[in-house]
Amino acid sequence: MSAGRYELDGSRSFTLDGEDLPFQPGDSVLQAATRAGRYIPHLCWHPDFKAHGSCRICTVKVNGRSAAACTVQAAAGLDVESNTEELNAHRKTLLQMLFVEGNHFCPSCEKSGHCLLQATAYEMGMEGPHFEEFYPDRPVDASHPDILLDFNRCILCELCVRASRDVDGKNVFAIGGHGMGTRLLVNSASGRLADTDLALADRAAQVCPVGVILPKRRGFVVPIGQRRYDAKPVSEQVQDEGTP
Ligand code: SF4
Ligand code: FES
Repeated sequence: MSAGRYELDGSRSFTLDGEDLPFQPGDSVLQAATRAGRYIPHLCWHPDFKAHGSCRICTVKVNGRSAAACTVQAAAGLDVESNTEELNAHRKTLLQMLFVEGNHFCPSCEKSGHCLLQATAYEMGMEGPHFEEFYPDRPVDASHPDILLDFNRCILCELCVRASRDVDGKNVFAIGGHGMGTRLLVNSASGRLADTDLALADRAAQVCPVGVILPKRRGFVVPIGQRRYDAKPVSEQVQDEGTP
């Protein structure tokens, strides 16, 4: 039984896939699992930010009912299922939909090997897109002197929105539109990144889990094959969550 660095206390523990896990008051199921070193797949959750609950990759069964592990509060005695064939199949389908909705050409992406979408897809055993590719036409924004914005890879996790608003205090990004038309937007009169005060040192410029917000002139500093998820699958890096 793995209880991380916290003592198990029956009044403050729940089961995840049959294993007792401790939690702290206010923890979500995903927070408690992460602290105990247990992997629950996720994309839009990040330990430094308030949960957003939008990607649904972290969907688990809580006492038999579906819930997002990043938003459902941990409580004593909960029976949480996560690593099941059924839930992983749903996760794989969601991932396949994300891959065909954008333009994700992993071999030519600077984030390959360091991308949470790609790493999670490998983890869920995704071997192909399954659905027909949309191939949307989304021009990149290369207007900023230091930062490139490639909208083709955006998974709408809103981490950059939260980071810019809540940490940097700049509100550079927003999500706009509805349904299939939902898009990442730049908050400037022109809609161009050059007309914002985004800086390379901003949290928003560093938080993107995929290859949308990239520093210019720094391509492939770490060779393919030596990157974070080349070394170990995402499920074995739970305690490093939040580190770049
Ligand atoms: Fe998330 Fe990156 Fe898209 Fe921002 S640009 S919403 S951080 S995927
Ligand atoms: Fe929970 Fe995205 S990680 S909904």
